Amino acid sequence: MHDAIKNYEDVDSWKTVIFLYNAALKEVGTKLEILNDEFQHVHQYNPIEHIKTRIKTPESIVKKLKRYGYETSIENMVKYINDIAGVRLICSFTSDIYRLAEMIGNQSDLKVLSIKDYIKNPKESGYKSYHMLVSVPIFLSDSVVDTKVEIQIRTIAMDFWASLEHKIYYKFEGNAPDYISRELRECAQMVAELDDKMLSLNDAIQACLLNASENHAEESGKERLDDITENVIGGKRRQEEIS
Ligand code: GTP
Ligand code: MG
Repeated sequence: MHDAIKNYEDVDSWKTVIFLYNAALKEVGTKLEILNDEFQHVHQYNPIEHIKTRIKTPESIVKKLKRYGYETSIENMVKYINDIAGVRLICSFTSDIYRLAEMIGNQSDLKVLSIKDYIKNPKESGYKSYHMLVSVPIFLSDSVVDTKVEIQIRTIAMDFWASLEHKIYYKFEGNAPDYISRELRECAQMVAELDDKMLSLNDAIQACLLNASENHAEESGKERLDDITENVIGGKRRQEEIS
């Protein structure tokens, strides 16, 4: 455990705090799985490719507090560090991101504390993602504690870019040579184009499938009508033969 959280009282409250963030991750994770299952059930489609969850390590919590200029304390970490509990949702298409964000916003027990749309407003680095800071009530035996969770929503392509950029950033400790940063921004542009193309291709496929199923319904409707007409005429003919 880190130096800053070494006395017994601190260790106890550290454990309590981490317990709460773990509970919050479970709550939000389950909610998202249910939303995904419901979507599959209603629309035969999964907006979420996969879900990753993580709790920030004590080392990076302390590092971030230092970077923000705050003393290391449990109180400060709860107050100022928003991403102790983090959920990352990876989707296929940009449209899934906004669909999910809306579904999350509509959950009445989640409070949306802030939104950062780095898709509409990408970062200087080229980073794209949709961030939501939410709080979820954790029901304990004698109290309810609202606990913050950072949700990052991005496409597979954005995630690919972000993980490479993250590695490079750490390798160069934030001072990558200019040409590398430039190439990364170019890659971000390519990723955006790929996401746009994949989305319009998917729209075209859906339209095509819809068209085919409408044609099929029309065809089988015609066939049924033909059958009925044939039966009616056949019946009349048989009646005439009898009389
Ligand atoms: P920190 O950046 O974490 O200090 O907090 P913030 O309040 O500025 O939040 P922001 O929404 O900017 O970023 C939060 C998280 O998004 C980071 O911890 C990363 O996981 C991710 N992120 C933000 N910018 C970048 C970026 O340029 N590259 C990559 N790979 N990830 C980023
Ligand atoms: Mg930041």
